[in-house]
Amino acid sequence: MTIPSPIGWTPGHAVRILDQTLLPDEERYLELETVDAVAEAIRTLRVRGAPLIGIAAAMGVTLSIRQGAPSLQAIQAASATLGATRPTAVNLRWALARMERRAAAALAGGEDLAAAMRAEADAIWQEDRAMCVRIGAAGAALIGGDAIVLTHCNAGALATGGMGTALAPVYTLHEAGRRVSVVADETRPLFQGSRLTAWELGRAGVPVTVIADGMAASRLRRGDVSCVIVGADRIAANGDVANKIGTYGVALAARAHGVPFYVAAPTSTIDRATPDGARIPIEERSADEVTGWRGHQVAPAGARVWNPAFDVTPAELVTAIITDRGVFAPKDAAGAA
Ligand code: MRU
Repeated sequence: MTIPSPIGWTPGHAVRILDQTLLPDEERYLELETVDAVAEAIRTLRVRGAPLIGIAAAMGVTLSIRQGAPSLQAIQAASATLGATRPTAVNLRWALARMERRAAAALAGGEDLAAAMRAEADAIWQEDRAMCVRIGAAGAALIGGDAIVLTHCNAGALATGGMGTALAPVYTLHEAGRRVSVVADETRPLFQGSRLTAWELGRAGVPVTVIADGMAASRLRRGDVSCVIVGADRIAANGDVANKIGTYGVALAARAHGVPFYVAAPTSTIDRATPDGARIPIEERSADEVTGWRGHQVAPAGARVWNPAFDVTPAELVTAIITDRGVFAPKDAAGAA
């Protein structure tokens, strides 16, 4: 892939991230040396996207060992700090629970805790990379050939440990020589679609057209969009899907115009413990994300704001869920997790 990895290790075992808040203007990498620095990066969306924040948090846990005497308590404290950053993406909790279980097993077995934690974080990262490849293959087979894909937010290489989820079928078809292009919703209020999706597709040489969010319904009515593919932050047991705010509206428009609406996600995004979308905690973010952009005011000072970062698309609007274990009807996806 020609897209730089948004995550990695420094030679000194700190966590290296691409600061996504600066894209597309600037490609700057940060070296995060402490648990608190990783937590700040997740909270502020320097590193973002459900699978990637799980990977970043797992890597962040390893930093607690550099900061003090290795112990299960230190691992659990780091996990609590990182787990409190963002509530919606279940991958975060999934990765942290996995790190805590591995720490307990390592200590019980007399293993070197630092080595075990590094290996587990690397495993979470590499497994995610492999899951992206399988999602890409399953999605490409489903689409079958040339396509125009509409997407919302960024569920590509910048959001995962590999080639992405929603964009994985696009990259797979592109690499196979198919004529595939993307219509990217800009994704207000933080512009993950125009800033990030358009940036990474451009790097990969995939044609992309950016539209404002309010244009998606008209574009779907035109009849040239083959399908919608979005990512997910959490898929409930009944197949309801939490994803970036605005996804639900796209799903309604896709249904109205007979366009298939696919959700692409690794099985680590499926939460069997949450029965339906109403129980998914939805992150609310600060008002200034809506009233301004990079210091420029776009609403009157003092305007009241509602800023949920995610919405829930009911399972009945989802045509299928594309996972690393195959393509499922929404109600059957939890059975695959
Ligand atoms: O707030 P963000 O940018 O972390 O939101 C990201 C999304 O909603 C993505 O669509 C989702 O996490 C899937 S990423 C593969």
